[in-house]
Amino acid sequence: MQKKIPTNQLVPGMYTLKTDIHWRDNPYLYNAEGRVTSERIDKILSEGYLEVFIDPERTRPDFDNSAETVAASFGETVQDVEEEFEKPRTSLALEMDAAKNTYVEALEASINFMDNIRRRDAVDLYKGKKLVENLMGSLARNPDALLTLCKLRKADEYTYSHSVNVAVLALAFARHMSYPRSVQFEVGMSGLFHDLGKAMIPIEILNAPRDLSESELVILRRHPRLGYEYVKKTPGFTQEVLLGIYDHHERFDGSGYPRALKGDKISLAGRVISLVDVYDAISSRRPYKRAMLPHEVLRLMYQMRNTDFFPGFMEHFIRMLGIYPAGSVVEVSGGFIGVVTASNPSKPTKPKVLLVMDKQGTYIQAGEVDTGVEDAPYITRCLSEGESPIDPGKLLNINPDAPRTFNEQPPGSAGNHRR
Ligand SMILES: [Fe+2]
Repeated sequence: MQKKIPTNQLVPGMYTLKTDIHWRDNPYLYNAEGRVTSERIDKILSEGYLEVFIDPERTRPDFDNSAETVAASFGETVQDVEEEFEKPRTSLALEMDAAKNTYVEALEASINFMDNIRRRDAVDLYKGKKLVENLMGSLARNPDALLTLCKLRKADEYTYSHSVNVAVLALAFARHMSYPRSVQFEVGMSGLFHDLGKAMIPIEILNAPRDLSESELVILRRHPRLGYEYVKKTPGFTQEVLLGIYDHHERFDGSGYPRALKGDKISLAGRVISLVDVYDAISSRRPYKRAMLPHEVLRLMYQMRNTDFFPGFMEHFIRMLGIYPAGSVVEVSGGFIGVVTASNPSKPTKPKVLLVMDKQGTYIQAGEVDTGVEDAPYITRCLSEGESPIDPGKLLNINPDAPRTFNEQPPGSAGNHRR
């Protein structure tokens, strides 16, 4: 169904159609398909188009999660680029088992580090080196396997999985930025150890189900320095690893803590960890009725890109992760539901998607589609956990089984990224 309207009657959420009418026959006809945002409408009007065909049935006023809106809200950063990125060497399915073992091994070690520090028992921090090497190996074979595990960990495992996730995200980012291997390793070590200092903060403060008082905040904000001093006592960790721990709550504009460092005074590892720490903390929180969708988290962080993060970092991070990171449940054109299985760094809005359900809700085996190729199905929106008719973790059999041997209250709290 189509209807011609003047362009000045366009409202956000309307679905415009591409027609067979040649521009020579009607140069004032806007002739492209997709749901329009307010930014798009401004552009259409400023370019002088006077008429447009729309499909009223596909108009969706509630279009917050439409792919077009999401893309538009990121401005230039999600435009397709010509860059050629290295392809993963191993398929996701093949890498997933190894990634899961590596992830769980790192998770168990993190629990052990934190619990032992809290009990003042001996801690073998050197173990971390092997764990980071293993994480690097998996990321080199296929980065989406570990990134999917980061995304699909359960909310109640936040405390422990956060350290592993930060290590994984930091390593993946450093790799994406083509930092030398030695720097990638240092950034990964910092990520794994970044919150060790929290094991020296009273549990009552870490797990307080309320806003902290000023004096409690002062105590909590000691954790970067405490972690730095703890790891420093163990010989064999470079200054960069130590500074990554010390600086992980610093902000580019100097608004962070504990030293309120500004700009390039913040160590490289600190810049990377502060970015991925915020991403994992916000992604994990449940302050609203529903969990925040990844693109909503990225959009929120995108707004902080010039104040909180090193210039260009946020843009690169979006490219690395994709607007719909691996593990996201999405709807594609035709009403199919699928799970994102691989990001596409050159086209952040067009990942690979494993289609699993048709419009009628019937499970199908349609396989994986690359939404980045011409004429392929395209993502129409991203589904929240509440909306999703499928459990991507169960479906792909990839939920990391977190060990549950610990008895005491977990150190670390709800993950307020400002804490
Ligand atoms: Fe922290």
